[in-house]
Amino acid sequence: MIQQPVSIYFAPFQGITTKPFRALYAGHFQGVDKLYTPYFSNFAVGCTLPPLKQKALKDQYENGIEVVPQVLSKSAEEIISFAHNCEEFGFKELNLNLGCPYPQVTRKLRGAGMLPFPDMVDGILEKVMKDIKINFSVKCRLGNLSAREMDALIPVFNRYPINELTIHARIGKQLYSGKPDFDSFAGAVSQLKMPVVYNGDIFANSDFEQFKSRFPEINLLMIGRGILNDPFLPARIKGFEMPLNPEKTIRTFIDDLYIAYRKERDDNPSVLNAMKEYWAYLMYSFNEPINVFRKVRKAKTFNDYENGVEEIFSSQELKTW
Ligand SMILES: Cc1cc2nc3c(=O)[nH]c(=O)nc-3n(C[C@H](O)[C@H](O)[C@H](O)COP(=O)(O)O)c2cc1C
Repeated sequence: MIQQPVSIYFAPFQGITTKPFRALYAGHFQGVDKLYTPYFSNFAVGCTLPPLKQKALKDQYENGIEVVPQVLSKSAEEIISFAHNCEEFGFKELNLNLGCPYPQVTRKLRGAGMLPFPDMVDGILEKVMKDIKINFSVKCRLGNLSAREMDALIPVFNRYPINELTIHARIGKQLYSGKPDFDSFAGAVSQLKMPVVYNGDIFANSDFEQFKSRFPEINLLMIGRGILNDPFLPARIKGFEMPLNPEKTIRTFIDDLYIAYRKERDDNPSVLNAMKEYWAYLMYSFNEPINVFRKVRKAKTFNDYENGVEEIFSSQELKTW
């Protein structure tokens, strides 16, 4: 059997994979085939998006890589309204979030909270599919309280021309604990008619190899924390040549991101929180992650932060994967 090349999608992260992050990541690293925006929610139906939301959504390409907007909603009207905005801005695909596991979201039957209610999913898809002009994809988990919820969702998903179905192979109740459930994922894949994208716990080449040995036919992968931890992961998986000085690439990226946030937020101190949130993942690119994070964690001023970063790059070594 000829091995198809794998496509790698960068998973959305609320608060991290922002517009500046997507643009700079795409400019500095290779190997990602699609970028997703964090979810958009709560907007007025039938209206053009307010300027701040438009800014967070655009652009439809970053350094030639397609960006897919994501929506979190249980209202078909709201999804359609957002879809019309996306169409107008030139996006090619809209993704519906049926995977967010946090109680404040699931309680309102949004995200993974909708998975135990296949009739509700059916009603939304029926209305949205009639009206949407761009591709429509879905990102879900195997269920919210049980992976058996998938049994009733599969015929619903199969009734509609869903462009791609991404499955994070856990249930909502687990949040991020335990391991992805390959058996339930395999059961779903064998019955689903549309292209399925696998998501969950690909942190290194070895995880990818293990996944491929069980699912050689799946060539669409969405990776999240693995790329936040090691921005070179997609290039490693695809066997691309590494830059001669990977440390310099990471340094330039993180500095560019910091400058972009300071500019975008007019030097608001929230920039420090945004950078720390990302460093909580990026620290794993280094041999001594805890020592790395310690150098930025307590930064209260821009000066503290800049000194911390300087110290990291002068005293810490990148991990050799
Ligand atoms: C802080 C945080 C924010 C997230 N935000 C989103 C989001 O906006 N939309 C979404 O579909 N998934 C979101 N996710 C889930 C990730 O996209 C991804 O599905 C999850 O981390 C599993 O993939 P991984 O094991 O490759 O990280 C978020 C996860 C975390 C930890």
